[in-house]
Amino acid sequence: MLPEKTREQFEKVIESQLARIQAMKDQGDFIDYSKLDKIIIGVCGGDGIGPMITGMGQHVLETLLADKVKAGKVEFRVIDGLTIERRAELGCAIPPDTMEELKACHVILKGPTTTPRKGDPWPNVESANVAMRKALDLFANVRPVKVPELGIDWTFYRENTEGGYAVGSQGVQVGDDLFIDFTVATSQGCERIARLAFDYAHKTGKNRVSCVTKANIIKTTDGKFLDTCQKVAAEYPDVVFDDWYIDIMTAKLIDDKRRRDFKVFVLPNLYGDIITDEAAEIQGGVGTAGSANIGKRYAMFEAIHGSAPRMVQEGRAQYADPSSVLRASVMLLEHIGEIELAKKLDRALDICMFEKKKYVITGRDTGATAQQFTDYVLETIASL
Ligand code: IPM
Ligand code: MG
Repeated sequence: MLPEKTREQFEKVIESQLARIQAMKDQGDFIDYSKLDKIIIGVCGGDGIGPMITGMGQHVLETLLADKVKAGKVEFRVIDGLTIERRAELGCAIPPDTMEELKACHVILKGPTTTPRKGDPWPNVESANVAMRKALDLFANVRPVKVPELGIDWTFYRENTEGGYAVGSQGVQVGDDLFIDFTVATSQGCERIARLAFDYAHKTGKNRVSCVTKANIIKTTDGKFLDTCQKVAAEYPDVVFDDWYIDIMTAKLIDDKRRRDFKVFVLPNLYGDIITDEAAEIQGGVGTAGSANIGKRYAMFEAIHGSAPRMVQEGRAQYADPSSVLRASVMLLEHIGEIELAKKLDRALDICMFEKKKYVITGRDTGATAQQFTDYVLETIASL
């Protein structure tokens, strides 16, 4: 017989997901930034190397948006309550007052936050990243990766609120021997990420979308994700659609003959998490890749990597690569409609990272500091 406690846990999980479906149904359309009097940009430094590299992103954004700030059209707000020390002390993923401050912004530039794991000195609070994605319903995690000399120009649309992450901290232990986690898909969740990926492919002319699942094994949830992508694909005759399993796609990303053919990827949360680290490594390391977390009301921009506490312990924080946050800043600018500024910053980063390479970041004193690289990016922008 199922223990009462287990039954209650299962019920709670299902109820929370049914409530989420209702919230998705009730949600309006995407916010139109052009209609706002003022856009509020929250800046959250995070932990480890976070404050260092996020500070660089803030500096570049403040420089580029100086006129808008002066005219009262843009406001920067520093939100500093999200450190691991504070989250540990209060025993929660995001302290309630910090959540209020986040919700008063439109977009957020966020540094990596430490996610406690077994054996850490911190209590096992939920990841602040995951909590923020869920609380602000940031359902699309968009991660571009490009390596011009290899002909690689990929954009990953990672579903960001469902899959193994939806109730990742609410797994169930039954007795001493049985351990169950959940993976979740909803019709609404699959459809909104699929649509965003196809819209992007259609609008940008990157006219191929590859869906990546393990639907041959994880039949119910990945099956739903794949079915939904197939259905949405039928509405986009100008976009080529294909589907792959995650294992073979992991191999294809390092197949030089095939990988340049891929353009846009759409995939469930966990596969997206894993494969975007692989893709970033091909680009030059996880420190080079930015990430946009997009929802209808809010959006958050961050590096794809963690807080690298080891770099801080070893006194190397000043050598951390800020290009992840600067790439994220490109997406922030695009998202709020500053297309020309976004293009400038993106172009400057291409020049600094791939073409001229006057300063190279190595993560140690063998390379440039984050500050030197950032100044180099700003100089390059000024010369465009
Ligand atoms: C990412 C990170 C996060 C994730 C961690 C820090 C919770 O790996 O953004 O890819 O798993 O999504
Ligand atoms: Mg990851």
